Amino acid sequence: MNVLVTGGAGYIGSHTIVELLNYGYEVVMVDNFSNSKREVIDHIKEITNREFTFYEGDVSDEAFMEKVFTENKIECVIHFAGYKAVGESVEKPILYYRNNLNSTLVLCDVMKNHNCKKLVFSSSATVYGKPKELPIKEDFPLSTTNPYGTTKLMIEKILEDIYHSDHEWDIVILRYFNPIGAHESGLIGEDPNGIPNNLMPYIVKVATHELECLNVFGNDYDTPDGTGVRDYIHVVDLAKGHIKACEKLFQHKGLGIYNLGTGIGYSVLDLIHAFEKVNQVTVNYKIVERRPGDIDACYADPTSALEELGWKAEKNIDDMCRDAYHFAIEQNNMLR
Ligand code: NAD
Ligand code: UD1
Repeated sequence: MNVLVTGGAGYIGSHTIVELLNYGYEVVMVDNFSNSKREVIDHIKEITNREFTFYEGDVSDEAFMEKVFTENKIECVIHFAGYKAVGESVEKPILYYRNNLNSTLVLCDVMKNHNCKKLVFSSSATVYGKPKELPIKEDFPLSTTNPYGTTKLMIEKILEDIYHSDHEWDIVILRYFNPIGAHESGLIGEDPNGIPNNLMPYIVKVATHELECLNVFGNDYDTPDGTGVRDYIHVVDLAKGHIKACEKLFQHKGLGIYNLGTGIGYSVLDLIHAFEKVNQVTVNYKIVERRPGDIDACYADPTSALEELGWKAEKNIDDMCRDAYHFAIEQNNMLR
């Protein structure tokens, strides 16, 4: 079966393509490399020993996407392509609304033209805003605090409207919690340009001495040790969730929304200490002011994904820390 993966050269997309190829799917990847590197393609092939089709281009370019669909018999689509940096979205909202919304609208239009009506969409736990209760269930109230989050919420609404207009569509919306880690080969992983915004990439750069010290944003949150608590999920577990989502599309169940998280919350200090222990390194850190917009705690109730998709995260915090560090070491070795 042919699966189109938009944004397939990115962090989550590349791990998902590895799993798709491992499970015997045929893959067509589309990416414009706005936030990824071409080498990823060779690394995916090296890991899987399989070939796949690749197009360089923008998902918002309708003529380009028509060509992709005309040249391939696409049966379902996993749509990762989009911009994802919260801070940048606050500074450049037009860029974010334009890329994230246009790419989705063009994609859905072209899919409809080619009678391909099976779609998996990457949403985010950010759509829950500041949750009143924990763990977070899919039917909790939705709200956002930044343009990036609003694009996710708007796209969810657009997809619901598309489904309500035509029940031939099968759509799975996946709300990811905090993906971290890397493929155990050390060949693909998260490699942000410049100074990272997110916790795990920052920890890694401190451990490898590329950055001096981690700023821990606040220790006065309403959590057991005062630092922020999140539901970190290994990116390979997350990737496997997409295989289950594709299987679900072929059961013709309409529209489904699922949290992909482990259900376990770890604090910033928990993650630092697990990283230090499993990798036998020191991570220098200091406590600083809270980061504006951060919430105390956020973790999933992943029961629906287990009951309806048959998916459960299997890797633990040590796996996440070990694989993230291994990838960084391999990257640094390659650069030498
Ligand atoms: P990423 O930036 O690593 O991957 C996105 C890929 O899409 C990149 O390779 C980029 O070059 C490509 N891209 C962007 N716009 C494009 C366009 N118009 N046309 C073609 N290619 C385009 O991000 P990721 O971490 O792999 O995230 C994938 C998806 O999951 C995104 O939609 C993101 O918002 C969502 N998500 C990510 C996280 C996370 O923490 N990483 C959490 C929740 C949701
Ligand atoms: C971020 C995004 C969110 C996205 C999620 C998953 C922001 C504001 N939010 O959430 O939209 O859905 O990633 O990818 O970027 N921390 C530090 N020091 C750091 C970095 C982070 O102490 O240098 C702390 C934060 O305060 C937080 C935790 O680590 O408590 C996790 O932060 P981060 O990795 O940025 O993820 P989120 O804030 O959950």
